[in-house]
Amino acid sequence: MKARSSTTIISNYKRWIAVIGATGRQGGGVVRALQASGQFKVRALSRNPGKHRDLADEVVEADLSRSETLKAAFEGAHGVFLVTNFGAISALWEKGADELKQATAAVRAAKDAGVKHLIWSTLPNVEAISGGKFNLPHFTGKARIDRIVKEAGFVNHTFVIAPFFYQNLVGSLTPQKQEVGTLGWALPLDPYGRCIHMGDIRELGGIVAGAFAHPDQAGNGEYLPLVGDFLSFNEIVDTLNRQGHKFSFKQVSKEAFAAAPFPGAAEVA
Ligand SMILES: NC(=O)c1ccc[n+]([C@@H]2O[C@H](COP(=O)([O-])OP(=O)(O)OC[C@H]3O[C@@H](n4cnc5c(N)ncnc54)[C@H](OP(=O)(O)O)[C@@H]3O)[C@@H](O)[C@H]2O)c1
Repeated sequence: MKARSSTTIISNYKRWIAVIGATGRQGGGVVRALQASGQFKVRALSRNPGKHRDLADEVVEADLSRSETLKAAFEGAHGVFLVTNFGAISALWEKGADELKQATAAVRAAKDAGVKHLIWSTLPNVEAISGGKFNLPHFTGKARIDRIVKEAGFVNHTFVIAPFFYQNLVGSLTPQKQEVGTLGWALPLDPYGRCIHMGDIRELGGIVAGAFAHPDQAGNGEYLPLVGDFLSFNEIVDTLNRQGHKFSFKQVSKEAFAAAPFPGAAEVA
């Protein structure tokens, strides 16, 4: 019989981490960081596993809107990275997905499957922090799920907080042609106000992989935010223009912006 090398034996004992959103930006970074750590086997979850066969050690179907798919998706996994789906901002996300319903189903399924460590990608409760002044469903909706994660009774649980992605500036917030002929942004923001926590969303993966590897330090309900920079819009524009762009920024009223004809305009405003 062929002797098994110690590497094979170690790799057979690697624990599985199942990653929701593995084909997207947050989950994609998590998959790559887990693979780079070499400490875990990675099960990428997707609604269309057939389209992403080589993404990870295993690619398995999971649809947060179809809870019956979640049992098999989490079976045998030591850890789960969970991110939900907010519909209104990005066309990639399902319109109007119910994050509370989806997350509750996922947390329940993970607990039933015997998952030990769940990492939930949350956001701050803007409504509570602002004393009810701001209604921001894609933040507060996620914050409300924290309690469900906490009360589920996993051996370990961790909260990670994504920043405003740098990638938004070449995606949903890509510079637009302005009336004066420049390319740039017209937003309801004081351009001098340092108010944007930004970061390269791919780097969230390192935080998640680190928390799975060190649950003693980061698996007891800690909140781990990723922040690469804390910037005003003028600083963003200056940084990009130093690289050779000629972007402009114009402050517009909240009302004008909210009425703009694109999905999520009112919420961004
Ligand atoms: N943009 C920002 O600045 C920012 C900041 C903080 C937080 N966020 C939050 O980040 C989330 C989006 O994450 P992302 O940007 O990483 O996503 P993304 O790149 O837009 O990709 C979407 C991912 O969601 C998966 N997905 C969609 N519906 C699903 C469902 N019903 N069941 C299972 N998987 C589903 C897709 O997988 P398949 O298509 O393969 O199934 C895909 O992997 C949003 O909730 C948003 O609120 C965004």
